[in-house]
Amino acid sequence: MAFPESFLQDLKMRNDITDVVSSYVSLKRRGRNMVGLCPFHGEKTPSFNVYTENGSFYCFGCGAGGDVITFIMKIENLDYLEAVKLLAQRAGLEIPQDSYDDSMSRLRTRVLEANREAARFYYDSLYSPQGRSGLDYFHSRMLSDKTIRRFGLGFADDNWSSLCNHLRQKGFKDHELVAANLASQRRNGNGIYDRFTNRVMFPIIDLRGNVIAFGGRIMTDQKPKYLNTSDTPVFKKSANLFSLNNAKNSGSRTLLLCEGYMDVIAVNQAGFHNAVATLGTALTSEQAVLMKRYADEIIICYDADEAGQKATARAIPILRNSGLNVKVLTIPSGKDPDEFIKSKGKDGPAAFGALIDKCGNDVEYRLQKLKQNYNLEFTEGKVAFLQDAAKVIATISSPIERDVYSSKVCNELKVDKNAFVQQINSISRKSNRENAKKQARQIQTDLSGRNDKINTEHRQKPRSSSAEEALLVYLINNPDAYSEISSHIAPSQFQNSFIRRYFEYVLNRIQNGLDPLTNIAADFSADEVSKLYQLMSQAIPAASTPDAMREYIKVINEESSKLKKEDLDNISDNQLMDYLERIRKSKQ
Ligand code: GTP
Ligand code: MN
Repeated sequence: MAFPESFLQDLKMRNDITDVVSSYVSLKRRGRNMVGLCPFHGEKTPSFNVYTENGSFYCFGCGAGGDVITFIMKIENLDYLEAVKLLAQRAGLEIPQDSYDDSMSRLRTRVLEANREAARFYYDSLYSPQGRSGLDYFHSRMLSDKTIRRFGLGFADDNWSSLCNHLRQKGFKDHELVAANLASQRRNGNGIYDRFTNRVMFPIIDLRGNVIAFGGRIMTDQKPKYLNTSDTPVFKKSANLFSLNNAKNSGSRTLLLCEGYMDVIAVNQAGFHNAVATLGTALTSEQAVLMKRYADEIIICYDADEAGQKATARAIPILRNSGLNVKVLTIPSGKDPDEFIKSKGKDGPAAFGALIDKCGNDVEYRLQKLKQNYNLEFTEGKVAFLQDAAKVIATISSPIERDVYSSKVCNELKVDKNAFVQQINSISRKSNRENAKKQARQIQTDLSGRNDKINTEHRQKPRSSSAEEALLVYLINNPDAYSEISSHIAPSQFQNSFIRRYFEYVLNRIQNGLDPLTNIAADFSADEVSKLYQLMSQAIPAASTPDAMREYIKVINEESSKLKKEDLDNISDNQLMDYLERIRKSKQ
């Protein structure tokens, strides 16, 4: 069952898309649209458009698009029902009772409830006699009880069924525990067992305070050291960060990006509440975009070892490309922030604060690293270093910043700045040219539909598909053309089955007196919705005149009467009747 049409209309009217988007993205007016930096992918120049008049958004950079409900689904990582609930709450609307029943939504709710109960259970176990080894472990790592409570840390015993038994008693079903990845199915299919055993536990909490996953650390040298919840209906590893829920309330627009759970916790205990960590994977651009919502500057605090330094080098461009300023913290002693703080005893917090204060930005960090590779006493070393340094400085987009670093490098090496600046300019001209070419190629591929994963039939039948897409968009924008269109074209004439599905859907809604798109987010997948909004955003004004519409009808008619012999063998009865009818008409 779906929501009543009138409710959805009301919901959309009272949640103006510009208002809603503005609380996540800073928008500027450009012509009739609003534009801003896309919250769904990293970019430095705005390609995210909000169309107030039809309540939609579309990003020309990553292809995300939809209405206000799709926007909330994507940005808050919610399903359809949850997004509607959030918007209803925002507008002070009551959700019609029993109007929507969605099994996926219910499962998500159950998984979150199971996780919350599991976190409580693990926490209680930590302070029970069985949890002694876990509590001793945390204390041995210098965590106070206050810190343990603040992070809701816990303990999973080695009984293999404690959590399952507890949650069953609380009314959870086995399949819900497996879906939450709190339990695994036995291989012989007979029952389930606890996924986490004999580990200290770290709950992962999202921005709304839901427990969405866990990390568990073994207390010995055994492997794997950390075990994390796999992706579940409520958790996507690559799109979440540990402790962002705390960091976003720290009052700072700077985030300290650490490698692991224990670093984040130790840094917090030292008084810095703005620390986050990825969840055992390399940093993704999704995570960078997420951080950008709460921060302007990231200080990378990765391990001092080689792996940590490699990870730093990989993280810098990802963060920069999302428009974040980047600094890199260097840990002079100990492997990671946790060990550094601990090694300084009661001076740990102050010592860590001093590291933060003196850390340089990413360019300084990269130049510093480069310098270590060359012997600057000799001319060859100098030349080689300067060539590499020019490459680093050429990646900076701000001319002022470039100038500052150029001067700094040249002063230090006592060389003339002119030649160095020329070298930088030539590198950056070359890379601009390459980027422009890359972009042009991307646009060509997009237009050809060659890489289109959703509308896959476009490339096989470009002419008919283009006309069908254009007619679909025309009909959506001009529902009063319904009679004329439907008297000349039947959906079965559409060669592109994806577009045909949309066309049938839209015809049907208009026929029933409904707005074509009000319920789109419930009836199509997120990718399909984005595709439709892409088609709508790409339509040019000249394509939306009645004359243009008649041209599309003509092309569709032509193309559909071009059925080949092999098509005739596979054609449906309806399509065959249509076909014969059209041949008859064209012979009259
Ligand atoms: P401690 O040894 O407890 O101080 O942890 P650490 O944070 O110093 O660990 P390390 O630098 O080895 O790892 C950093 C992060 O990578 C951890 O917090 C985990 O998220 C992840 N990680 C480490 N080991 C494993 C592993 O064996 N499996 C998985 N999936 N993730 C791991
Ligand atoms: Mn560590």
